Amino acid sequence: MYEGLLGLHSLLRWLILLLLLINIFRSLVEADAPYTDYDKKWNLRLLIVTHLTLLLGLYQYFFGPKGFTYFLQFGAAVMKDAVMRFWAVEHISGMIIAAILITISRSVAKKDIPALKKNKKLSTLYFVALLIILASIPWPFRFEDVPWFRGIN
Ligand code: HEM
Repeated sequence: MYEGLLGLHSLLRWLILLLLLINIFRSLVEADAPYTDYDKKWNLRLLIVTHLTLLLGLYQYFFGPKGFTYFLQFGAAVMKDAVMRFWAVEHISGMIIAAILITISRSVAKKDIPALKKNKKLSTLYFVALLIILASIPWPFRFEDVPWFRGIN
């Protein structure tokens, strides 16, 4: 089961990136046009997929071979090893910050404020979340054991 959930966690990254790009595009193009329920739905889709990925990540962090397990096995030495530090600290903190920004975007999307102001706030939140996620993903060119598409290649 762990492998299956890891595959899902891994593949959902592509959906999050796609949804972020769609939301960024929608908040930048015709930014002063009224913010519709259709826009709100795209924001909701992003929120749901992010929170699902986060839940799967928490499960992997506490029950998988990496993450918290590294602390339990190696203690403070984890911080001196770049790979262990990434899994034990950097991945989880970066992704939680990004998820918080996306959650804040949900409340901004619901606010009754002028469309231009709303879209400006939203595009900033999405863009910062995108940068943090891109920096916190374990890309195959940094980690030999992480494929581009787990379960597919
Ligand atoms: C929400 C955005 C997140 C994205 C886009 C994301 C993305 C990824 C990706 C692409 C992998 C590599 C999977 C593979 O080996 O094929 C991974 C692994 C992992 N993620 Fe995340 N992650 C996110 C959030 C989190 C969070 C919040 C945690 C911890 C609470 C977490 C914990 C882990 C762990 C422990 C692994 C390694 C699992 C293993 O190899 O056994 N992730 N994540």
